[in-house]
Amino acid sequence: MTISFAGKVAIVTGAGNGLGRSHALELARRGAKVVVNDLGGLRDGSGASSAASQEVVELIKAMGGEAMSHGANVAHFDEVQDMVQQTMDKWGRVDILINNAGILRDKSFSKMTLDDFKLVMDVHVMGSVNCTKAVWEIMKQQNYGRIVMTTSSSGMYGNFGQANYGAAKMALIGLMNTLVLEGAKNNININALAPTAGTRMTEDLMPEEIVKAFAPEAVTAGMLTLCDEDAPNRFILCAGAGGYSSASIFETEGCFIPTAKQSPETVRENWDQLTDQHHQKALLSGAQQGEKFVMKAMAFMKSQQR
Ligand code: NAI
Repeated sequence: MTISFAGKVAIVTGAGNGLGRSHALELARRGAKVVVNDLGGLRDGSGASSAASQEVVELIKAMGGEAMSHGANVAHFDEVQDMVQQTMDKWGRVDILINNAGILRDKSFSKMTLDDFKLVMDVHVMGSVNCTKAVWEIMKQQNYGRIVMTTSSSGMYGNFGQANYGAAKMALIGLMNTLVLEGAKNNININALAPTAGTRMTEDLMPEEIVKAFAPEAVTAGMLTLCDEDAPNRFILCAGAGGYSSASIFETEGCFIPTAKQSPETVRENWDQLTDQHHQKALLSGAQQGEKFVMKAMAFMKSQQR
């Protein structure tokens, strides 16, 4: 069935270039009214310009769609609030938030300054927190919301020279996991996208022909399934060059060691059972892990009473 966004209002951060631009154009092509947010700085976060976001707005209008640009720096809550207020004044609702804006300050951890670490955390983590916070009560009142966090393989699996970026990108999965629980009763679904695309962010990291193969549009095709009415919830979609997969955090069934025997030595002795992946599960809350451990302790106590 065709996925339509007719009547929906979407905010896409960092939509002047790369993936955000592609997301904004396709959302608009499928009927959404789109806020094209972009600070318009360089890849490292320095500078600002409205040229790129303005161009995307013009492209959307040229295809008969509705769009407005806003130059909020997502790391600044007051600017984000202004963007959301302007959206509400113009269109009266916010259905979709695509947290996409991002920068890079790559260096090995030895050479990375704490300022470079903090700036990357500010844009990716606080940027997504600020935008989500600014739309959260609106989505709750509407009883409808779709939010996408842009994570990365660097966060989930690590990447040399990206300690700041990796920490920030994994934090967004933690943010998603809790917001999913808090947004469930108001029909707010939150998912994460782990893209690979040839953009200015990756152009010097990949050979030219590979950059071409990794078109942002291929990622956008997957991203749109995370923010329509039938979107999943708490899903991590990995997408790049036409490949699509999902990622999850699993926990092993583990072992149980009774109180009298708990020591680092016995934990190590049980390593094979503790790491046995046969019955591993993706848990749906932190409390589920606690329940699992309590169940094991109770089963042990019962076995002692027999
Ligand atoms: P890009 O550099 O082409 O686009 C990022 C956009 O965000 C730029 O237009 C920039 O002006 C904007 N931006 C940066 N800081 C901002 C701020 N404080 N406030 C508002 N806008 C701001 O990069 P690309 O590749 O399109 O990245 C988009 C997202 O995807 C980022 O979150 C990035 O970390 C993530 N990502 C990209 C991958 C790739 O292979 N290109 C891989 C994994 C994740």
